[in-house]
Amino acid sequence: MTDALSQATADAETGVAAAARSAGLARHVVLVGFMATGKTTVGRACARVGRIRFVDTDAEVERTAGKRIPAIFESEGEAAFRKKETAVLRGLLEARNPRVIATGGGIVTIEENLPLLKRLGFVVWLDADQDDIVRRASRKRNRPLLLTKNPAATVAELLEERRPLYERAADLKITTTGLTLDEVVTGVLESARYHFSCTSRPGVGGGGSEGEVG
Ligand code: S3P
Repeated sequence: MTDALSQATADAETGVAAAARSAGLARHVVLVGFMATGKTTVGRACARVGRIRFVDTDAEVERTAGKRIPAIFESEGEAAFRKKETAVLRGLLEARNPRVIATGGGIVTIEENLPLLKRLGFVVWLDADQDDIVRRASRKRNRPLLLTKNPAATVAELLEERRPLYERAADLKITTTGLTLDEVVTGVLESARYHFSCTSRPGVGGGGSEGEVG
């Protein structure tokens, strides 16, 4: 999805009329995945098309901490950032209306976050080719974990460590490389509607499980 992502404001409405019917989502749609896989861009577009609210856990952490992520890492360390991230996830369990939630790439590294993600709703893992990730991630210097001597090697290392965790966390994986933003948005919203329609029937799946946000 390189081109579509480069144009972050690409028109996500065209060709996704069917996905727009997703306004009736039963629970949250949660996007997980490595840094620079397009979670925020896809999340915003899904929220616009589905006409529901968008929330980004990184932005929520920054808002509640009153400082930017690099400053949190620098002054308080990664562990403190992770605690704030988990607190944001817990807070979202209280949200009454469905949202599209984009998460930080490291959210799956904290074991207690995995059941929280599941309780929030339908979890979609956005993955991309390693080269795409390195290229996109190098455009910004706002990711403390990639400020290393060899960011490409760091990406490779972290991807190897984290891919099994995203796999565990997610209900669905979408590899975005080669897809347009429209296609990804449609895939996320239609799959979510399908998932919720299956799990909301009595006796099927986890629709009425503990922690449902309603
Ligand atoms: C992180 C990813 C970042 C942000 C923080 C740590 C990670 O979010 O939460 O810099 O550990 O992968 P994005 O995935 O939105 O870049």
